[in-house]
Amino acid sequence: MMNSIFAKLLFSTLCMIFVLKAESLVFADQRLSIVYPVIQKFKSLITSDPLGVTKTWIGSDICNYKGFYCDHPPDNNSAIALASIDFNGFHLSAPTLNGFIDNLPDIALFHANSNNFIGTITSQITKLPYLYELDLSNNQFSGAFPIAVLGMKSLTFLDIRFNFFSGGVPQQIFTQNLEVLFINNNLLTQNLPENLGISSSTHIFLLTLANNKFMGPIPRNLPKALSSLSEVVLLNNELTGCLPHEIGYFQEAIVFDVGNNQLTGPLPFSLSCLEKVEVVNLASNMFYGMVPEVVCAELVNLVNFSLSDNYFTHVGPFCRMLIQRGVLDVGKNCIHDLPFQRSMEECAQFYAQPRMCPFMWFHSFILPCKFPFQKSSVSSIP
Ligand SMILES: *[C@@H]1O[C@H](CO)[C@@H](O)[C@H](O)[C@H]1NC(C)=O
Ligand SMILES: *[C@@H]1O[C@H](CO)[C@@H](O)[C@H](O)[C@H]1NC(C)=O
Repeated sequence: MMNSIFAKLLFSTLCMIFVLKAESLVFADQRLSIVYPVIQKFKSLITSDPLGVTKTWIGSDICNYKGFYCDHPPDNNSAIALASIDFNGFHLSAPTLNGFIDNLPDIALFHANSNNFIGTITSQITKLPYLYELDLSNNQFSGAFPIAVLGMKSLTFLDIRFNFFSGGVPQQIFTQNLEVLFINNNLLTQNLPENLGISSSTHIFLLTLANNKFMGPIPRNLPKALSSLSEVVLLNNELTGCLPHEIGYFQEAIVFDVGNNQLTGPLPFSLSCLEKVEVVNLASNMFYGMVPEVVCAELVNLVNFSLSDNYFTHVGPFCRMLIQRGVLDVGKNCIHDLPFQRSMEECAQFYAQPRMCPFMWFHSFILPCKFPFQKSSVSSIP
């Protein structure tokens, strides 16, 4: 009891000294004097600073603190304000960013990759008018997806990779002004966004969803809505169902990775529409049937095509050429004239159950990049 009274007294005395000291400091701009106590309060919360960066966080010259950068704010070209923070790799520990980030009114970039910040993200960040890059990756944030970012008009870059965010991802995030959305390696669940129709277009060109707990099928209208993605990375989730033939809309994809899910069905021929693709990983799912020759023949940029740990039964001459070149891996399937396959019993067991995909008749059309029945260049293969 005595101890806590003493602590309170000490604290208020310190606060008074602090206020007096702040008053005696001269700042280059009034905007800097406003953020000074915010920074000092945050500094007092930091429990570990192995690189000693906070030693530089003293005095009125905030623009020269390590990790702090000033610029003219958008609303006043003659003022000087704290415009960006780059704590990347500082390995700071603090129990929260709340009360800090949300009290930096002119902040445009906030990068805090690879620290040990914990807690949740305050809804107060909504009021930051200029924030356009928010990188909180590789920390230990938890709680729900930070819904405060929804509708933030200025925000174009959101990176919350490698944290412990859990629960669903609000669908609205996919249709706001974001260009980059990295949410892989969290504990995010639920189904992938269903309603990314043509009307509500997305601006995202970089999106990573891997290593979460996304469930359910890949929605049929997702590929078209995200057709500008250069990397489609859904590996290590809990996706089920068949690949819709609409995956052919991922025509900008360099990487298409849905490895280690519970996807099934035959491969849609439309996979051959991904003309730019270099890496295709479908390993460790339950795909079956024949590997479409058109895919092996037409995807000339492939360097790594992994189909291992599935239930494919046939590969044709074009695909065999890729196997020979070390591009295609079909290990642990049911192709019994090739080495390293599953046992006959295991394959028989798998095929004993009837298996169907919705819209199966589309699977052998090379939609959407070619019209049905259009002659493809491999139609003359014997
Ligand atoms: C712009 O900033 C300068 C420097 O802080 C200040 O003196 C001036 O009053 C500001 N102008 C407006 C319109 O707020
Ligand atoms: C090809 O991709 C698979 C799956 O992503 C990976 O395990 C493998 O190491 C890659 N192979 C090469 C040669 O890069």
